[in-house]
Amino acid sequence: MRHLLDTRTLTYDEALRILDVAEDMSDTQRREVRKLPTLRGKTVVNLFFEDSTRTRISFEAAAKRLSADVINFSAKGSSVSKGESLQDTAQTLQAMGADAVVIRHGASGAPRTLATSGWISAGVVNAGDGTHAHPTQALLDAFTIRKRTHGDASRGRDLEGLRVTIVGDVLHSRVARSNVWLLTTLGAEVTLVAPPTLVPQDVSLWPVRVMYDLDDAIAAAPDALMMLRIQLERMNAAYFPTEREYSRRWGLDARRLASLPAGSIVMHPGPMNRGLEISAEAADSDRSTVLEQVANGVSVRMAVLYLLLAGERAASEREDDR
Ligand code: CP
Repeated sequence: MRHLLDTRTLTYDEALRILDVAEDMSDTQRREVRKLPTLRGKTVVNLFFEDSTRTRISFEAAAKRLSADVINFSAKGSSVSKGESLQDTAQTLQAMGADAVVIRHGASGAPRTLATSGWISAGVVNAGDGTHAHPTQALLDAFTIRKRTHGDASRGRDLEGLRVTIVGDVLHSRVARSNVWLLTTLGAEVTLVAPPTLVPQDVSLWPVRVMYDLDDAIAAAPDALMMLRIQLERMNAAYFPTEREYSRRWGLDARRLASLPAGSIVMHPGPMNRGLEISAEAADSDRSTVLEQVANGVSVRMAVLYLLLAGERAASEREDDR
C-alpha cells in the first residue's frame, strides 16, 4: 500500500487484508507484547491542521508500538499561523526524515494533493479531510462490527448481510461517507437516517437506503446503530432543527435503546455530544462499543502503518525465504 486516502477505492481484498493484519496486531497487544520492532528506523509525522484526540493519539500509540519515531505537528502554534503553505510545511517535515505523513485537514482533498503533487515522497494517510473521508475511522468501525459478530473467528470474514444504520449529521460527516463505501464493499446493508436537511444532495448515488424516522429504522432491527456527532461548528441554523427537536426525533435515548433488538450494538466515533445525539444511558450501556472502537483504532492504525511502511518489504522477504 502506497497511501491510504479513502475507502471508496479500497478493494474487497485490500479491506479484508487491513482488517486481518489489525487482528494480528490486536493479538500481540492482548499477549502484552507492547512493542514490536517492525518499524524501527522509520519516522511517522502526525500533521494535524484540525483538532483531534482519538485519531492523533492512536496514530502516535500505533507508531510507537511498532518502534517508529513520531513527530507530532499541530497547526496551532506553528508557522502555519504566519501563512506557511501546506507544501512548505510538508516539505519541511519531509526534510526531517518523514517516511509517512498522517494528515488531518479541514479541506476535502488535502491528503490527495499531498500524495499526488510530488511535493514529498513519504506515504500519506488521511486522518480526516473536510467532509470527504476518514478511512481509518471506517476501518476501525468495520473491525469492531466484525469482532462483535464473529469474535475470535473474525479473520477472513466479511460483513455480508449485516445491517448497519448510520444516524444523524450525514451531510457534514466524513465518517459516514467512509463507512458507507467500506461497509458496503464488505457486504453490509447500510441505512442512513437523518433530518431531510442533513442528507447530502448526491445521496441517490450512494449504495444505501435513506430513512427519516429513527423509530422506523430501529424497528427494522439493525445489527449496529452508529450515531454520528452533530457537527455544530459546521452547522448553519437554516438546516439544523433546534437541539431539543433534534434530540427528541433523532437522538438515541433510553426508550429507543430499550427497543433495539437483543445483540445489536451502539456505536459512536466520538467525540460525543451527550444529551444531543446520544443519551448517557446509551453511551454507557453494555451495548455501547465506544471505548472498544477507540482501543481497536490502535490495532487498525498499526496495521495501516505496517502495510504502508513494511508491507512490501515483508512481502519481498517472504518471497526471498521461498
Ligand atoms: N473519531 C475521531 O476522529 O475523533 P477525533 O476527532 O478525536 O480524532
